[in-house]
Amino acid sequence: MMEKILEVKDLNVSFNTYAGEVQAVRGVSFDLKQKECLAIVGESGSGKSVTAKAIIKLIHDPGVIKKGSSIKYLGEELANKNFDQMRKIRGSEISMIFQDALTSLNPTKKVGHQVAQSLIIHQKMGKREAFDKAVEMLRFVKIPNPERRANQYPHEFSGGMRQRAMIAMALVNKPNILIADEPTTALDVTIQAQIIDLLKDMQEELNTAIVMITHDLGVVAGSADRIAVMYGGMIVEQGPKKEIFYRPKHPYTWALLNSVPRLNTKSKETLYSIKGTPPDLIQPPLGCPFAPRCEFRLNICNEKMPTAYPIIEGHDAKCWLLDERAPKVKVFERLEV
Ligand SMILES: Nc1ncnc2c1ncn2[C@@H]1O[C@H](COP(=O)(O)OP(=O)(O)O)[C@@H](O)[C@H]1O
Ligand code: SF4
Ligand SMILES: [Mg+2]
Repeated sequence: MMEKILEVKDLNVSFNTYAGEVQAVRGVSFDLKQKECLAIVGESGSGKSVTAKAIIKLIHDPGVIKKGSSIKYLGEELANKNFDQMRKIRGSEISMIFQDALTSLNPTKKVGHQVAQSLIIHQKMGKREAFDKAVEMLRFVKIPNPERRANQYPHEFSGGMRQRAMIAMALVNKPNILIADEPTTALDVTIQAQIIDLLKDMQEELNTAIVMITHDLGVVAGSADRIAVMYGGMIVEQGPKKEIFYRPKHPYTWALLNSVPRLNTKSKETLYSIKGTPPDLIQPPLGCPFAPRCEFRLNICNEKMPTAYPIIEGHDAKCWLLDERAPKVKVFERLEV
């Protein structure tokens, strides 16, 4: 058994806005093992980014990580640490990259210096040595001409190259965990595939565990070991990738799988064509958050949130259909996978 390096238990994050308490993350629990790639998948607004940011304490006022939440990194509780106490861990032990590299990189500083800065801060390296190491790292993430590129500014890089520079910056201290929040969403399809391949290579060479966040199940088909499906601030199903792709149990997962464009369809028209809208997180429903959009809804679904039903070791889903009293529905016939 590989060691768990991250254990998130009953994570609750809310934003206290004028309109009311936005319950963005509601009771999220998952583990990450060493060298593993866990994908967190779900539509926009399902709480993926808030979950990721909570891990490294990037939740700012009016956001709060609620009492009772637990985030253990190598056994050490992070949930009670504040932004400053997390400085040592953030960027060196746990790194994060975002969708938009342009807003994460400093436009006024040369790319090489930005990568070097991370080494200067976390490893107290001298400027010259750090810059050389930064060039090496840019080469490592397959940026051509790294010596010249290190002396350029972010605006001189293409979108794909900027994302590579971000990855270099995130990995230069060899973190144990990389959290990648929609790292390819802003890029075109071929570049997306290259970045995913690069992350996979980096994971193998540096033994980094990855939390890969995406709204597109297609993106993680190749790279993830396990998948957690989020909806309405909750993980509604999680399990090994093969289980999620071939034996999914939750109607929302079925809908997501149906919205992945297939090779035999020309357009992306079907993408995110799940009818209806996600729940209001200011007054989240008492019952299953997917109920208003679920064609299999039972009476109890509106009244009570289902607990996680275990399917096999490591695979569970929160759906009343898994209760032994529920009517049986045939899923695969609907899916045509
Ligand atoms: N700073 C904030 N203030 C108020 N609500 C927020 C804030 N950040 C996120 N939210 C809300 O939290 C929910 C989850 O957001 P997010 O995690 O960004 O979704 P995802 O990354 O899955 O698209 C959304 O309803 C969003 O509006
Ligand atoms: S619990 Fe009910 S409403 Fe929710 S996904 Fe399952 S069947 Fe649908
Ligand atoms: Mg997001």
